[in-house]
This record gives sequence, C-alpha cells and structure tokens, in this order.
Amino acid sequence: MVSLTTSLALFSTLLLTPTTLSAPLDLERRDGAVYASTISSCPAIPARTAPPSSVHDLRPDDFSYTMALGDSITAGCFSRGIQNNVLASFGEWRGESYANGMDPGAITLPNIMKRYNPSLSGGSLGSNPIPELCYGALCPIGPIGWNSKVDQLNAAQSGAMATNIPHEVNDYLIPQIRARKIPSTAFKYLNLQIGSNDLCGMCHQAIVGFGPSSPDEFESSIRKALEAVRKNIPNTVVNVVGVFKVSDVYSMTLNQPYCSQLLPVPHVNLECPCMLLGGKVGAATRALMDSLMNQYNERLIKIVKEYQTKRYSDFAVLWQPPNIPLSTFPVHALSSVDCFHPSIKTHQLMAAELWNRLVGNATERAVPLAWSESLQFRCLQEADRIHTDTLI
Ligand SMILES: *[C@@H]1O[C@H](CO)[C@@H](O)[C@H](O)[C@H]1NC(C)=O
Repeated sequence: MVSLTTSLALFSTLLLTPTTLSAPLDLERRDGAVYASTISSCPAIPARTAPPSSVHDLRPDDFSYTMALGDSITAGCFSRGIQNNVLASFGEWRGESYANGMDPGAITLPNIMKRYNPSLSGGSLGSNPIPELCYGALCPIGPIGWNSKVDQLNAAQSGAMATNIPHEVNDYLIPQIRARKIPSTAFKYLNLQIGSNDLCGMCHQAIVGFGPSSPDEFESSIRKALEAVRKNIPNTVVNVVGVFKVSDVYSMTLNQPYCSQLLPVPHVNLECPCMLLGGKVGAATRALMDSLMNQYNERLIKIVKEYQTKRYSDFAVLWQPPNIPLSTFPVHALSSVDCFHPSIKTHQLMAAELWNRLVGNATERAVPLAWSESLQFRCLQEADRIHTDTLI
C-alpha cells in the first residue's frame, strides 16, 4: 500500500510539476514579460548577486523608501466615494493612494514593490478626515499642514499647483528624511504628479504666457523641486508622471446620474472652473486646458531629458507619458463624491499599470493605460532594471 501511495504521489508530481512551473493558471506570457492577476502570484526572484552600482542599475526591489509629491490625486482625496456617514466621504484616503499608499492589502505602487522587498517603508497609512489644503498662494507657510503619522513620506497636498511643489519638498519631505535619519546610501523612489489644478484654474495661461501657472513658471517650479531633492535626498529616482487630459472629465460626467448622488441636482465641475461651462465658451476653455497641458508636458520632457543626459550617479529622473485615455473610462473611474477625483478603482489601475511600466523601455512606458476591471501585474524578473535613459 505504502509503495503504491508513494508511486501515485511520485506519478502525480512528475505529471503536475512541469505544468505548474511553466504555466500556472494565473500566469500569462506576453511580449517577453510574465503577467499575473495578483502580484502575490508572481514567482519570487533570486536576490542580486552584486549590489547596484548606481541609481542607473536598479531593480525595483532595491528601493528601501518610497515617497511622493503632488496634489489631491496623490493624496487619495475622496477616492472611496460617498460613505454611509456622509461626512466621512470628504477624506484623503492616503493609505490607498496609487502613488504612496501602504495600507495592508491596498493595491498601490508601494505595496506592489513590497512583494519583492518586504522592508520597504515610507508609504502613507490610513486617512485624513479632511484634506490638507494648499492652493497656490492660499497655502499654510512653513512646516505646518501635514499629519506625518498618516502621510509618512507622501508630501502631496490637496489643491497643490506646480508652484507649491518646492514647498512640499523643502518644508516637509527633506525635514522628514532628516528626522527619520534615512541614510543617504539607501535607494528611494519618488512619485511626482502635478498640474491638474493649474489646468483647471489657470487655463488662460495657454495664451497669456507669464505669471502664475504659465509654462515658464511651471517649469521653474519643477526645476526648483527636483534640484532640492537631488541636493538633499541622494540616491532618489523620481518618476515624473506627465500631466493628463483633465478636460475629458467634462464629457465623462455630463448628465450622469452617478454624479448626482450626493446632491440631487445636475453635476457641475465646481473644482475645475476651466471645465465648468457648456456651449462654445466651455469648449473654448477646455481647448485652452488641452493646449496648456501640451505646453506643460513639453517642459517636463525637456527637464527629464536634461537629467537623463547629465546622468548623476546618485539621482535619476524617469518620464512616464500621461497616456490615460479618460474618455474611454466608465464614470465610476471617478469618485461619486465629486465626479472629479479618481476612485479607488482608478488608483488601483494606475498602481498596477505604472508598476508594469517601471522596468519598461520607452515603447512600453508609452502604451496607453487601458481601463480594465481585472488588473494585471508584471512579474519582476531577475535581470529587470529601471531604464533611466528612455528620453535620450
Ligand atoms: C521595448 O521592448 C519591447 C519588448 O521587448 C521591444 O519589442 C521594443 O522594440 C523595445 N523598444 C525599445 C525602444 O527598445
């Protein structure tokens, strides 16, 4: 009997093991990469045999810390939608932010990275009951305005424009790095996404061209912020996510009952004045938004290209093209609170899709982020590296 059982076990092992190894049900091979429906289904990979020689030789599991700069999107504002206790709807769900959330079980970039490096830290934990506001000149001065227990190394503030990003770096991120005695030798990931509030409030800058939110001012704010990071937080890789087409939110939300759940009146885009109006005037201000978006992205590409050319050994900047075709997304891609901020589903999609592009080359990074209800995660492979030269 014993030997029969043993033989059966051996037989089934022989029969099943090769199939299991080459193609477990969940894994799908595509364009030289392997994808899974959860990151935990991805096989473990061998540790590196030699430590990275510089920021230009990193595998995502080399990061020890994760950080973020940005606006209400990065802060996870309103992303859970309308809550049973309506007052609880207006929070910042930072622990679930695609860019820097670290709530247990949340599908976020840091948690996906954690699959390969469990000691990664710096992600936000939990939520803020009301947004941490900072809007252009209407912004608290100095180091007040953050809740470090929740925010951790996510310096994003709701309402932030590009001009507020140096403030996020100098008054929060750098002091936090120092207070936590984070070693300069540790490798750090920094997610930077900004520009939606500039587009929404200052679309006239598409043609005016000087003063607040002009392309020149936008560029100078980003340069100041990146230089401050480079000089004060060595061994950082900044992933610059381009400015996406916010104006598409107008058609996405038009006459949608989904957007009238909080107040039983037709939805208006109060948070985005340049996207507010219908008719010819609205079409014109949305065209200005799109033109300004293109100008901002040209400036971002110029800056990233410069850093990629300079090739500092302890600082690198990545370009993530903002190919997010919102007009093809369902309305529940937006929060039911305001039909403006991304919903949790969109945060999860962005986390998975930005992760999938993190070790990608220029072509792979530029693939549009298609809407999907079933996420796919690119399994890390031993030889994968983050390309720090996709624009040169
Ligand atoms: C990027 O990688 C893909 C898949 O390996 C390949 O087909 C493509 O030619 C590469 N593109 C560039 C710009 O290297």
